Amino acid sequence: MRQQIIAGNWKMHTNLAEATILVEGLKKALAEAKTEREVVVCPPFTGLSTVCDLADETTIRVGAQNMHYEVSGAFTGEVAPTMLTDLGCHYVILGHSERRQYFGDTDELINKKIKAAFANDIVPILCVGESLEQREANETQAFIDSQLEQGLVDLTAEQVGQMVIAYEPIWAIGTGKTATAEQAGEVCTAIRKKVASLFGADAAEAVRIQYGGSVKGSNAKEILSQADIDGALVGGASLKVEDFMAIITA
Ligand code: 13P
Repeated sequence: MRQQIIAGNWKMHTNLAEATILVEGLKKALAEAKTEREVVVCPPFTGLSTVCDLADETTIRVGAQNMHYEVSGAFTGEVAPTMLTDLGCHYVILGHSERRQYFGDTDELINKKIKAAFANDIVPILCVGESLEQREANETQAFIDSQLEQGLVDLTAEQVGQMVIAYEPIWAIGTGKTATAEQAGEVCTAIRKKVASLFGADAAEAVRIQYGGSVKGSNAKEILSQADIDGALVGGASLKVEDFMAIITA
């Protein structure tokens, strides 16, 4: 059985004081709520150290939102995988559509980062997803297949089984427009099939697939009840304890 995973992508939000209040609130709420689901928070780099300390010895796991593929070097402004593990980071989001769109992250670069994550004991959360134009042109599946083919090049079946794939349709991110549970479920099923064809049935059975894009308390239950959806990657609604908890406990 795959444990469901609810991850909060804080994007470029929260200063240290806000991050502290958010994690402290989450710790308190989780202690009372009890959930079978794994809970992950992904603060900006500046908040990672503090959040890792606050989450230490709790069930909350911490992820980064990006990283470089080299462990050190002359790469001004970049953060190495070893710097993340040094803090206690467990996950890293890679290939988010905002990184692809605004910072030029290509499938090839993302693939290098995924390999670097595994080489450094960090679990990658690989984001894939189509634009509105692609959906309307019926190109959703072909596009996501190609993101998977290129993003997962040279990985082993065992590695793929350990990672998380987040299906985030670009048109549903931060727009309030959610894919219907059926639409989301359909693509996640197709992603699992694609993983099976590339890496075999065991990897496909083990890999956890999240949906992301305007997930909130009111739609989480239906989305999370889809057979091939194993969790959610949450942006806006992860910035308030109450809203995030509504998804975690949905
Ligand atoms: P929203 O939940 O704000 O739509 O963001 C989704 C997302 O991009 C998570 O990575």
